[in-house]
Amino acid sequence: PTGLLSDSLARPLHDLRISVTDRCNFRCVYCMPKAVFDNDYQYLPHTSLLSFEEITRIARLFVAHGVEKIRLTGGEPLLRKNIERLIGMLAGITTVSGKPLDLTLTTNASLLARKAQSLKDAGLQRVTVSLDALDNATFQRMNDVDFAVEDVLHGIDVAHQVGLGPIKINMVVKGGMNDHEILPMARHFRNTPYILRFIEYMDVGASNGWKMDEVIPSAEVVRRIGAEIPLAPVAANYAGETASRYRYLDGSGEIGLISSVSQAFCADCTRARLSTEGKLYTCLFATGGHDLRALLRAGRSDAEIGTVLAHLWRARGDRYSELRSSQTEILRRSANKVEMSYIGG
Ligand code: GTP
Ligand code: 5AD
Ligand code: SF4
Ligand code: SF4
Repeated sequence: PTGLLSDSLARPLHDLRISVTDRCNFRCVYCMPKAVFDNDYQYLPHTSLLSFEEITRIARLFVAHGVEKIRLTGGEPLLRKNIERLIGMLAGITTVSGKPLDLTLTTNASLLARKAQSLKDAGLQRVTVSLDALDNATFQRMNDVDFAVEDVLHGIDVAHQVGLGPIKINMVVKGGMNDHEILPMARHFRNTPYILRFIEYMDVGASNGWKMDEVIPSAEVVRRIGAEIPLAPVAANYAGETASRYRYLDGSGEIGLISSVSQAFCADCTRARLSTEGKLYTCLFATGGHDLRALLRAGRSDAEIGTVLAHLWRARGDRYSELRSSQTEILRRSANKVEMSYIGG
């Protein structure tokens, strides 16, 4: 089903990704490297954050314009105080089509075991967990704060037990760092209720020092896994799905590949992003957002803000990942791109 709004490339508006905090208790090397996100790093002051009431108001307007999926991101969304209250407020929104709103979040699972039940009770449907290795030493090199694999696995199991599924596991593959963990991760998550997805390391933000030669293309991931456990492609679950799917021929499950570098999926990108301080971004790689908080705090009506949203989406022409391959390294670096922790993944 197409949404009520189409952008300049005929892409409907379907998902809203909301960053609820720019803070995280991990320092993943590809996202919040310690050298940049150190003790002096200036996070947003509390007054800059959208309140839960403000987030919910914006979310309602997006849903009125066709959004059917809302994902909370960060930073680490479970660090936002009383996040359950926000989830309860969002869970009460009804979609235009009458389908239940798909309400989910992406977490590093550090607080998941503790919070899974209250998140479920508040109305969250499912979670996606980031986990970059099974080997503890490798995982700790990736998260850079000595967080243990075992605790993430426990969080995943508790979330599953309370019914926060289907759970997806996201592994960002950074060549030379954790690519030797591709097979161990695949072996581990076969024959479990969890769907493992491999994400190509992206040139998002300006601080991770991204280099093309550290990207392991998804085709290579499929080749390595398929050599041991034969795989076959499967059709997408829905138009605009970020991952291409493969299933194990022996029936032991499926994997997903998110190939934003080697095979951009901008052509049917239906995602809008709301930053922690209320700026609307129409692309993960945008250099600027539209300040919706200013409209809220200036007392504009729902009708006025709704009109702004509709205009912004209709004018949207972003397709950064498709253009990336034709850009030079210099062009890529010159842009003042926002950080993943600010805009949400
Ligand atoms: P499902 O609803 O479970 O299918 O999840 P999803 O794939 O929409 O969301 P998720 O947060 O699991 O996305 C996985 C990863 O894909 C993100 O962390 C990003 O790294 C990447 N990703 C998601 N959306 C986009 C996008 O619009 N553009 C690019 N370039 N990457 C994206
Ligand atoms: N490239 C690819 N994925 C990234 N993520 C964060 N930074 C990057 C990057 N540079 C992923 C995280 C998590 C989600 C929020 O975004 O691993 O799964
Ligand atoms: Fe935190 Fe997720 Fe970024 Fe890692 S990828 S630093 S867990 S926000
Ligand atoms: Fe969408 Fe931008 Fe990602 Fe392309 S690069 S898929 S337009 S968010």
